[in-house]
Amino acid sequence: MTIRTVSIVGARPQFVKVAPVCRAISLANQRGTANIEDRLIHTGQHYDRGMSHVFFEELEIPPPSINLGVGSGSHAQQTAGMMTALEKLLAGDGRPDLLIVYGDTNSTLAGALVAAKLWIPVVHVEAGLRSFNRAMPEEINRIVTDRVSDLLLAPTETAMTNLRSEGLGAAADLVGDVMHDAVLFNRDRARARSDVMSRLNLGERGFALVTIHRAESTQADVLRRILDALAAVARRGIELVFPVHPRTVAVMSAELSDWRPPEGLRIIEPLGFLDNLRLIDAARLVITDSGGMQKEALFCGTPCVTLRDETEWVETVAAGGNVIAGRESARIVAAVEGVLDRVVDGVALRSAASRYFGAGDAAERIVRSITDFAYARRGGLAA
Ligand code: UD1
Repeated sequence: MTIRTVSIVGARPQFVKVAPVCRAISLANQRGTANIEDRLIHTGQHYDRGMSHVFFEELEIPPPSINLGVGSGSHAQQTAGMMTALEKLLAGDGRPDLLIVYGDTNSTLAGALVAAKLWIPVVHVEAGLRSFNRAMPEEINRIVTDRVSDLLLAPTETAMTNLRSEGLGAAADLVGDVMHDAVLFNRDRARARSDVMSRLNLGERGFALVTIHRAESTQADVLRRILDALAAVARRGIELVFPVHPRTVAVMSAELSDWRPPEGLRIIEPLGFLDNLRLIDAARLVITDSGGMQKEALFCGTPCVTLRDETEWVETVAAGGNVIAGRESARIVAAVEGVLDRVVDGVALRSAASRYFGAGDAAERIVRSITDFAYARRGGLAA
């Protein structure tokens, strides 16, 4: 039996998550353990070469069958644009047996809502994540997507517990984290292929890697406090490398044009996946508000300071790899100094990662879970 699936992606973290699943589908099809015909739809939420195309090339993701070209806009405009285009595609001859969505972006939400209303079963990869902070657009996207999904593929025990406590346990399956798969597969590839260390003239453990992009961090006053903290850290002697997301660049140039980076704080363009992974792997620490980078740091055995008041990836904290520092300057500086003063046991961090996030076989388990689900459903429908 052929299972026809459509995978919806649109934003940078989703390219990272879909790559191991595409590879696992193609391996399972070759081995004859699955027969899945997957069609990739790119919503166009991210469209710059450095935010999108580079990821397809480096992660060897099959080219999308279509790019909806939705681009930027308010949440409503962006989500509605995606929904309108997706409804046309999925309602006609392109109707799949299942729709797969990833993570918590507006592309995730749009795909899940359209499919649910067309009675196409929805599979959510990275289900059950909760920050319990509804001011985050991603939290709204997660809650709604999980509610309307039929198969909830959870990365961690915590995610399973969250789903059970919302009455969604019956649809949930613990498969592990596909981002762990991606890091285990690509860490050595990044060491071999990326020249970012020499390009930027960096030494192993001689710098910290910084990223900031979330809506909550990029309000001008909040961003200024974060940048001041980074400047204070740089002045104390550790070099900071800061690839800047377009949203953050926009706020910096429109509202913080008087702010100048001190020496030792290097602002660069967004990086591709392999360059970014190489830097996470080589950094003394990572300073970020990204969900994915908190995990990628742990998976590489690099400590992380998170510029948020909470994290949905509580395992990174339990593993001893992540300090939640908030967005106030003094706390950020203190947290960074605390990490710099500590001896880091990278091997212990990496083995904790496997305990919490699985053995790097999440994508394989996802393919099995999807196949079982589709068979059970067809059997159920025929009966
Ligand atoms: C989105 C996701 C977030 C994810 C992040 C990764 C939502 C609600 N948020 O946030 O969960 O962590 O992607 O990057 O879906 N822009 C460009 N070029 C691009 C993409 C964006 O210039 O290729 C600019 C546009 O001005 C846009 C702004 O960045 O308005 C924000 O982009 P958007 O996709 O709305 O949200 P992200 O901040 O990227």
